[in-house]
Amino acid sequence: MDIDFVRSRFIKHFDGTTGAIYTSPGRINLIGEHTDYNGGFVFPGAVDKGITAEIKPNGKNKVCAYSIDLKDYVEFGLNEEDAPKASWARYIFGVCREMIKRGVEVKGFNTAFAGDVPLGAGMSSSAALESTFAFALNELFGDNKIDKFELAKVGQATEHNYCGVNCGIMDQFASVFGKEGHLMCLDCRSLEYKYYPFRPEGYRLVLVDSAVKHELASSAYNKRRQSCENVVAAIKENHPEVEFLRDCTMDMLNKVKAQVTEEDYKRAEYVIEEIQRVLDVCDALERNDYETVGQKMYETHQGMSKLYEVSCEELDALNDIAFDCGVTGSRVMGGGFGGCTINLVKNELYETFITTAKERFKKQFGRTPKVYDVVISDGSHRVC
Ligand code: GLA
Repeated sequence: MDIDFVRSRFIKHFDGTTGAIYTSPGRINLIGEHTDYNGGFVFPGAVDKGITAEIKPNGKNKVCAYSIDLKDYVEFGLNEEDAPKASWARYIFGVCREMIKRGVEVKGFNTAFAGDVPLGAGMSSSAALESTFAFALNELFGDNKIDKFELAKVGQATEHNYCGVNCGIMDQFASVFGKEGHLMCLDCRSLEYKYYPFRPEGYRLVLVDSAVKHELASSAYNKRRQSCENVVAAIKENHPEVEFLRDCTMDMLNKVKAQVTEEDYKRAEYVIEEIQRVLDVCDALERNDYETVGQKMYETHQGMSKLYEVSCEELDALNDIAFDCGVTGSRVMGGGFGGCTINLVKNELYETFITTAKERFKKQFGRTPKVYDVVISDGSHRVC
């Protein structure tokens, strides 16, 4: 993100002085989708695209926020009843409130922010926004007393309490903890994590954006989560120790098949298999076995499309094209219902794949998909 651009807008929209500039990235996820809120494993990394904000305390009790991309200006107070209407501003308001709930004495500030992480592409632009403000408010008003995990939880709680999405912890974790050149395997129950150097020799990671944005994505997402909880409740009757689908086997699931709906059964089947796939990918990476990694990615796509039902025609088409081109691994990334596929491609196939994907997609859907090369980068930090 161009820092000078953000600064010039901040100067223009406020009193001509400057503040501090913070940035947080969006994320990719190699594998482990819809596993985070099931206590399972995820495998994300931060990217070189994110949200950048200039922020300066203004000595008042209100926040004056300017979205450079939307050319929209909003002011709001810091009490619970002051929630702004604009959805982008609710993220910032939510972060302020969650920091206050954790004992940080947040005061008014001026801010202007912009992003280069594509909206609705499944790369977590909202987590990038939340993490930027959580990190900044911790430094500006909290003496950095909130630790990094709690900052990620501030973002997650913002989604739950102010934006209506019952998300897991993956996106905010990846945005805050990202490390250049490394993916992270996170156990979403214990919150233990491990950095994996990821510079696959001979391969590239590339995202192909279907540009589909599902209107009902948040309610459909919450519904998936509900299905998982329904199945856990049924299994718990005989296995009180079970807390998440992470603790369940296919055997346990099959025993409650008659008690749960067909739909809930399929959702749980996907999650149980997906949690295992992440572990298989960790093993494969230890052996530099990218063929297995790729095969698991295709399996994830099938599961997300047929069992979890969070894919769509466009994403399925992109997955087919990747397969036909001999791409090593491909799948829908993130929550689904639109957004990107993530593709693990051999260097020598890269050009053919991209050209074919653009051509075939355009023929079928009348528009050319955008392509983003993945550069794995650092998490939240102050720029200047
Ligand atoms: C969204 C959510 C995450 C996670 C993914 C699916 O990005 O914010 O918590 O559940 O979907 O893996």
